Amino acid sequence: MTRAAKDAAQGIAHPLRLEQYRTTLRDGTPVLVRPIRPDDKELIRQGFDRLSPASRYRRFLSPVDELSDAELRYLTEIDYVDHFAWAALRADRPNEGIGVARYIRLKEEPEVAEAAVTVLDEYQGKGLGTFMYKTAINNLVSSGWKVQSDTVRSPQANRVWLNLRQRNPDTVKVIPRLGGSTVYEASGVVLRRPNVKRHQRRSR
Ligand SMILES: CC(C)(COP(=O)(O)OP(=O)(O)OC[C@H]1O[C@@H](n2cnc3c(N)ncnc32)[C@H](O)[C@@H]1OP(=O)(O)O)[C@@H](O)C(=O)NCCC(=O)NCCS
Repeated sequence: MTRAAKDAAQGIAHPLRLEQYRTTLRDGTPVLVRPIRPDDKELIRQGFDRLSPASRYRRFLSPVDELSDAELRYLTEIDYVDHFAWAALRADRPNEGIGVARYIRLKEEPEVAEAAVTVLDEYQGKGLGTFMYKTAINNLVSSGWKVQSDTVRSPQANRVWLNLRQRNPDTVKVIPRLGGSTVYEASGVVLRRPNVKRHQRRSR
């Protein structure tokens, strides 16, 4: 049984939020943000090709030259419950992908969702990263999550935070604007649903 089916059996609702959003970047670029679809593989591949090695490294935490077919399937064939992702497209050139946001709920801790955002280098610093993180957070909040205030939860999380500060200052600037992201021991920036009791966690 999938987690979504188990949740449904326990009466936990997962409204699918498949809306799209429009925004305008600071330089006037019109942007459409919509849920990723399986047929977005080419869009993602092309966007990845345009991403600088530094941005790729920051996103994947390792040097990645290209995305394999399996990785593209993983990134686009999602269930919109445990794994949700959005593509940001130029609204005036809908075949041009300029950013992606996603969250993935951790298998071992389903009340924790790891968030990742990528914006093409030439579009960075114009507010899109903040907008994309907020899209992910709003989606979780509207399906019943409470996102905690900024927290550093352990000595190891402190190290993650210091590491982020050194290696990814752009992300560190974005986080305080989100009003509720958590720096978590294992994974860096995550979103957390805090009000789930331990026995509920184990039962999933
Ligand atoms: C982290 C990331 C998503 C932020 O996206 P973004 O669209 O640049 O975010 P914002 O424009 O909302 O804010 C970014 C802040 O970083 C700084 N910044 C980012 N790019 C910049 C650039 N090219 N020049 C100057 N400042 C820049 C700015 O200070 C900006 O703050 P400001 O709004 O006060 O100017 C983006 O830099 C990115 O994709 N990085 C590579 C992948 C990554 O690190 N992802 C996060 C971890 S999964």
